[in-house]
Amino acid sequence: MRGKDILRLQEMERRRIAEDLHDTTVQDMVYLSQQLELVLYYMDNDVAQAKLEAVIAKNQVKRMIGGMRETIYDLRPIVFDDIGWSAAFKQLQDKLLKQNPELNIVFDIDEIDTSDGVTAVSIYRIICEGCQNILKHSKAQNATVSVKHSGKYIKICVYDDGIGLEREPAYGSDSKEHHFGLQFMRERAESLLGNMDILSDSSGTILNIQIPVLEL
Ligand SMILES: Nc1ncnc2c1ncn2[C@@H]1O[C@H](COP(=O)(O)OP(=O)(O)OP(=O)(O)O)[C@@H](O)[C@H]1O
Ligand SMILES: [Mg+2]
Repeated sequence: MRGKDILRLQEMERRRIAEDLHDTTVQDMVYLSQQLELVLYYMDNDVAQAKLEAVIAKNQVKRMIGGMRETIYDLRPIVFDDIGWSAAFKQLQDKLLKQNPELNIVFDIDEIDTSDGVTAVSIYRIICEGCQNILKHSKAQNATVSVKHSGKYIKICVYDDGIGLEREPAYGSDSKEHHFGLQFMRERAESLLGNMDILSDSSGTILNIQIPVLEL
């Protein structure tokens, strides 16, 4: 991968983190400050109401702490030697089920050599984004994630039986929305000299990612 490509990937990830923080933490802070305004407003004339508003503010802070913990968890470097490859996917599955208990999501993950940390982390992050997209967009009931090590390739498949991608996501120059996830997945795969194909129609979406295992 060329230096410029690496910088582009880094920039894309930073932009994504900045957007996430803006949409979650900053928004929460705005609500909190409005909530505290209410506490101040009622403080002198209606102490009971002021207390009620303060309790709401306290609960907001608790939720924010939970949200920030999740963001930090997602950002932290993953050392598979510490948590184990399979355990990391078990944790991911549990987290997804917490986010959407209705989704039937099956993981079928081969053990791979995680001593090359970059490949392992990239595969993990590609799968995280694929799963987040399933939760956010697909309306699927069933999903499957597999990682198969066969011969000279690691093959990753992320499948859902949801509504499928729109023809051209984020098409058109007037779109103010940013959609980085699929691009991020593709660039990650390409950074490992692999590729990603998307097959999608109104009965679901399949992402096939193939990464060559390089002999060192
Ligand atoms: N599994 C899926 N099922 C249905 N639609 C999908 C799926 N994955 C992606 N999409 C569609 O493709 C678009 C682009 O996805 P992408 O991950 O690039 O961006 P995003 O999820 O909207 O935003 P971001 O990932 O940057 O937070 C989504 O907005 C959604 O419309
Ligand atoms: Mg996405």
